[in-house]
Amino acid sequence: MVLPLLSRLFATDLAIDLGTSNTRIVARGAGLVLDEPSVVAMRDNEVLAAGREAKAMLGREPGAVTVVRPVANGVIAEPDFAQKMLTHFLARIERRWLTHWRPQILMTTPSGITQVERRAVRDVALGAGAREVYLVTEPFAAAIGAGMPIQEARGSLIVTVGGGTTETALLSLAGMVHCESVRSGGSDMDDAIIQWVRKHHSLLIGLRQAEAIKLALGSARPTSADRQFEVKGRGLIDGLPRIVVLSDDEVAEALRDSVVAIVESVRACLERTPPELAADIAEHGIVIAGGGALLHGLDDLLRDEIGLAVTVSSEPVNGAALGAGKMLDGLEMLRRVAASP
Ligand SMILES: Nc1ncnc2c1ncn2[C@@H]1O[C@H](COP(=O)(O)OP(=O)(O)O)[C@@H](O)[C@H]1O
Ligand SMILES: [Mg+2]
Repeated sequence: MVLPLLSRLFATDLAIDLGTSNTRIVARGAGLVLDEPSVVAMRDNEVLAAGREAKAMLGREPGAVTVVRPVANGVIAEPDFAQKMLTHFLARIERRWLTHWRPQILMTTPSGITQVERRAVRDVALGAGAREVYLVTEPFAAAIGAGMPIQEARGSLIVTVGGGTTETALLSLAGMVHCESVRSGGSDMDDAIIQWVRKHHSLLIGLRQAEAIKLALGSARPTSADRQFEVKGRGLIDGLPRIVVLSDDEVAEALRDSVVAIVESVRACLERTPPELAADIAEHGIVIAGGGALLHGLDDLLRDEIGLAVTVSSEPVNGAALGAGKMLDGLEMLRRVAASP
């Protein structure tokens, strides 16, 4: 990435999408500057690794090392670790740019969170060195990132399926009309695969292996592809390492409940949509985003279940960070208005 000199000097504002699975950071004028799993590995109260490197240690750590996912279901579950992870990420960006700054930070949060949970997000950003912190809900940012016309007097519906949250938001006139938020997402699919393999093959597998299976074979409903995957784990009965072969239909079956939860959540939001806005949605369809939107066939299944056109966002995974990044220009205006007499 080539950074123009000017933006390098003045890029003091950051948009941070601190997700359950991934942290993505956009710097004003420079685009996406960091994209790492939200995982931190600690040893003796020091950060040993963060991001990809820490994720690779998950389930393999010796006793002296603790590997933590500090964000759970979209909210900060481990504030100290979250702050250490973010501080580590920001230091990495600073080192690359050879600057030191106290940025203004716009953080994305799930929409269905409490004041206390919002406070925790703010505190983590302040603790990691932010000069000022602003918050925006993730579906709102993701809709901007997807280029949806949310400022217009017309309803737009976006569904974001993240690692630990699924949010369906109805937006109009740059505001949120309402939102349906459930605390389940891609990680629940991984858990469901672990349970399936345990129950049907008597094999214990780890979270990373389960995610790999989902990425390789996962689909929202059975396909005619007939694909298979070799799964390695520990036998439940003899306790020895073993390999079993899993089919795509099995994985689709394992994922069924998670997929139904997503469909039901979208349906619940639609049922509460006022008629004028419902007419807009019927005309323009809905957009799905977040890593979970990439689950094979989820768009088709949703279309069949709710009878509306469904499109995957043009920026499914980075959309929330990029959308929040676009809003950084607005912060400047906010500040100027606040400073004027
Ligand atoms: N191609 C894919 N198929 C199914 N799930 C996927 C795919 N790509 C990513 N995911 C899942 O999406 C989730 C991460 O999505 P993301 O939007 O980054 O989450 P968050 O915002 O919660 O950090 C993970 O559970 C990941 O396994
Ligand atoms: Mg997200």
